[in-house]
Amino acid sequence: MPPISRNLTSATLATLLVAGSLAPAPLTAAPAATASDKAPVDAASWQRADPAMDRFIADLMVKMTLDEKTGQLTLLTSNWESTGPTMRDSYKEDIRAGRVGAIFNAYTAKYTRELQALAVEGTRLKIPLLFGYDVIHGHRTIFPISLGEAASWDLQAIEKAARISAIEASAEGIHWTFSPMVDIARDPRWGRISEGAGEDVYLGSLIAKARVRGYQGGDLSRPDTILATAKHFAAYGAAQAGRDYHTVDISERTMRDVYLPPFKAAADAGAATFMTAFNEYDGVPASGSHYLLTDVLRKKWGFKGFVVTDYTSINEMVPHGYAKDLKQAGEQAMRAGVDMDMQGAVFMENLAKSVAEGKVDTARIDAAVKAILEMKYRLGLFDDPYRYADAAREKATIYKPAFLEAARDVARKSIVLLKNKDNVLPLAASAKSIAVIGPLGNSKEDMIGSWSAAGDRRTRPVTLLEGLQAGAPKGTTIAYAKGASYHFDDVGKTDGFAEALALAEKSDVIIAAMGEHWNMTGEAASRTSLDLPGNQQALLEALEKTGKPVILVLMSGRPNSIEWADANVDAILEAWYPGTMGGHAIADILYGRYNPSGKLPVTFPRTVGQVPIHYDMKNTGRPIELGAPGAKYVSRYLNTPNTPLYPFGYGLSYTSFTYSPVTLDRSKIRPGEPLTASVTVTNSGPRDGEEVVQLYVRDLVGSVTRPVKELKGFQKIGLKKGETRTVRFTLTDADLAFTRQDMSWGSEPGAFKLWIGPSSAEGSEASFELTE
Ligand code: BGC
Repeated sequence: MPPISRNLTSATLATLLVAGSLAPAPLTAAPAATASDKAPVDAASWQRADPAMDRFIADLMVKMTLDEKTGQLTLLTSNWESTGPTMRDSYKEDIRAGRVGAIFNAYTAKYTRELQALAVEGTRLKIPLLFGYDVIHGHRTIFPISLGEAASWDLQAIEKAARISAIEASAEGIHWTFSPMVDIARDPRWGRISEGAGEDVYLGSLIAKARVRGYQGGDLSRPDTILATAKHFAAYGAAQAGRDYHTVDISERTMRDVYLPPFKAAADAGAATFMTAFNEYDGVPASGSHYLLTDVLRKKWGFKGFVVTDYTSINEMVPHGYAKDLKQAGEQAMRAGVDMDMQGAVFMENLAKSVAEGKVDTARIDAAVKAILEMKYRLGLFDDPYRYADAAREKATIYKPAFLEAARDVARKSIVLLKNKDNVLPLAASAKSIAVIGPLGNSKEDMIGSWSAAGDRRTRPVTLLEGLQAGAPKGTTIAYAKGASYHFDDVGKTDGFAEALALAEKSDVIIAAMGEHWNMTGEAASRTSLDLPGNQQALLEALEKTGKPVILVLMSGRPNSIEWADANVDAILEAWYPGTMGGHAIADILYGRYNPSGKLPVTFPRTVGQVPIHYDMKNTGRPIELGAPGAKYVSRYLNTPNTPLYPFGYGLSYTSFTYSPVTLDRSKIRPGEPLTASVTVTNSGPRDGEEVVQLYVRDLVGSVTRPVKELKGFQKIGLKKGETRTVRFTLTDADLAFTRQDMSWGSEPGAFKLWIGPSSAEGSEASFELTE
């Protein structure tokens, strides 16, 4: 097969059941989903002792030469895809020679079977290959991008999306996904913000667990479960200036309080593997960090899986200025705790020499080999190396109607209604002619976003136009004009305006489908501006001048700066890149067949100049509230408010929810004692709907300064029109823990504030005290 680029596949391949039902969710209020992560699935079950496995692997390792061992530590890409340099073109030769233990970017039952045969029929010890792939938000059936899924605040839906991804990927020979990406991301300039769960530590940690459960299920020996990878360990999201691969320079406290917790959550949930990051931490590249890989991950957290590098990150320790050559880089990585070298061929080409020179301990190499062989064993590959490569299962599994329906449902749940002036949405029955205008209105390739695995970008995705047409009420006409381009170089190009404006003039309502080209987010896709690229802003302004209602449907992988739109258009929907079924999902919302329930997992700045901006900032010694409006010597900008355009946790519904004041069952708690905070939420609007009820706290005085708010709980509840429900949260001092001044982890006695509300910027307040 000729080399093809990531996210494009020439394969046109067209039964295993998901645990639980895949029946489509009701179009209005869904049953209550809670933030509880006490699901029955135990994705850490693989950690149980297995004496038979221990004996098998010990016997095997006795037979292995050093070269065969370093082979097991080597992961190479097939020639189907790559995202960086390819160090060796001879991967098939390398497999046959026993120099490779794992392959990535190879899928389909046929191809993985062909490669597996090279290993198990061609090598002396017949050790099966492990096949990895970036199954990030779906494999063939593509769900919304990860940031979009996070906007659902629906852990069950997120887990189900990961489960379906695993079922599809495993049916095509994949044993291992390089997901979830659990990097906290607070800089929308960074293109990879699209791949994670957003800015928040608490939400991000729960989503990390849900995804690990979804991929790994409760039993790794089942052929429809795959290994998860928590990546990129650690703090990759803190790249300076939002520039990908850039330096990270954060305090140890920030590392512990913000960047590490989602990784700890993934490890606790049983993530079988961890991937290092490209960046440095405290001057040491992550792939050479003994602190991260050994002291924290293995010793402190008790991690028992294996660590793979990100791509050529061992090699990159040379340009980082941390190793003088590849051989030294390999030694540093191995000693730090790396087990598997992705794509760099450094271990393969240098480790034997390093061992001969006494620079690397063979016990460390053996530990790495053992951890990798154990995973192959637990997946059942020594029993049947082809058990994931089953063409009949593949045919019966991929793009199953139930999977597509689930993708549509998750997409609906992920869409966030940001503005809805005079309830212009859902579209009124009187909207008989709809103009869809903009570069994202009928673009199949964009719907599935970046990192879309084996997703077909050319024929399968349902565009917004197609979704609107398919769901149109009788007698409605829908027409499309592109109007403008989103490519950076097309600023000022107005050749499509006349056609678009003519269409707008003769229509009842305008749906402006705008945003970013799919490859403007993801890896190596940083921007210095968050504006709508190309000539979209000018087109939007021209559309607004027609006087027709304008509904902006945004599709992108990052918060865009849409302050003008917020002030001028009638409604705004953030649809992210909604996946294979995206057009149907957006149409469900526009036509009012689904009531939007998404909430932002990330702050939307007014302008890029406010970045980094997130809800859990510190108060500073000169908070803006201290001064009169416009006062000078307070922490503020001269030209822009401090507040974001849309805060974290924000999102509207077609109905409205009224919150009662918060009540606490006590005003003081001692360590270990529960505090119950309650609020009564009423659906006071015209239709059934879902609301994400959010709880935030503030620790008023600490041994180190504390954020102005921190999310500590949420519940997504469905309320019928007119229905009222009391929502209760229980907290203990464990929920109030942080890295104290002496670097110990725990809470501190003192006064706290607590809010329950519909976003990080609203809510009714209460106070309590934690005593000694
Ligand atoms: C990315 C990883 C990805 C790997 C394999 C790297 O460039 O940073 O997230 O898993 O490629 O495709």
